[in-house]
Amino acid sequence: MHASAAIPVIAIDGPSASGKGTVAALAARALGFHYLDSGAIYRVTAFAARRAGVSLEDPQALAGLARGLDLRFDGGEVYLDGQPVGDAIRTEEAGRDASRIAAMPPVREALLERQRAFRQAPGLVTDGRDMGSVVFPDAALKIFLTATCEERANRRYKQLIEKGFDANLAALFQDLSERDARDAARAAAPLRQTADAHLLETSDLTIGQAVEQVLVWFREASAH
Ligand code: DC
Repeated sequence: MHASAAIPVIAIDGPSASGKGTVAALAARALGFHYLDSGAIYRVTAFAARRAGVSLEDPQALAGLARGLDLRFDGGEVYLDGQPVGDAIRTEEAGRDASRIAAMPPVREALLERQRAFRQAPGLVTDGRDMGSVVFPDAALKIFLTATCEERANRRYKQLIEKGFDANLAALFQDLSERDARDAARAAAPLRQTADAHLLETSDLTIGQAVEQVLVWFREASAH
């Protein structure tokens, strides 16, 4: 057995703007675990491609770029080539670009080991689309965290307004539906609840309640 296999992973997958990132980061803090936002890796890859003039239609070129990315996470910020890019990769356009390139198997393959390297003691909480199905299939706890599309559009709307960005609720709803459809329909690691994942429907939960549920399930899983 690989030594890292003993390090517990909590894999939280789900659709866009479900709040899984917030819940995952808070659960990681509560447990003193590391946190990996895997979507940020896809977002940075697409952002770096645009900046370098690499076509978002060219899987091999994108995979090459993905392998060589100088990417670092530190204190909630994401650095590309030493420069903070957190705000630039959080736009809806960056999310759409990420979703497009994430459908390409060579890109996913190129990013696989980079994601697995985040499995460090004492543990990892990670969120994305295929954390439980592909990247960490032996995760101690797998969760499919979701909310209705209306609720997710509302949450994203509030988030953007708070950050001082322009936002249009109807356009956000449309965007989220399209992105979810693409992430779920793709052949490579589609967004899907696996049979061994707990369903966490958060439309009527506060963030605190959702985090608490994750911690309860983790305690149960660790007791076995
Ligand atoms: O979680 P997010 O919205 O930051 O992710 C952006 C896009 O990246 C998402 O639309 C699909 C893709 N993604 C993926 O395919 N697999 C992951 N593990 C995480 C994100």
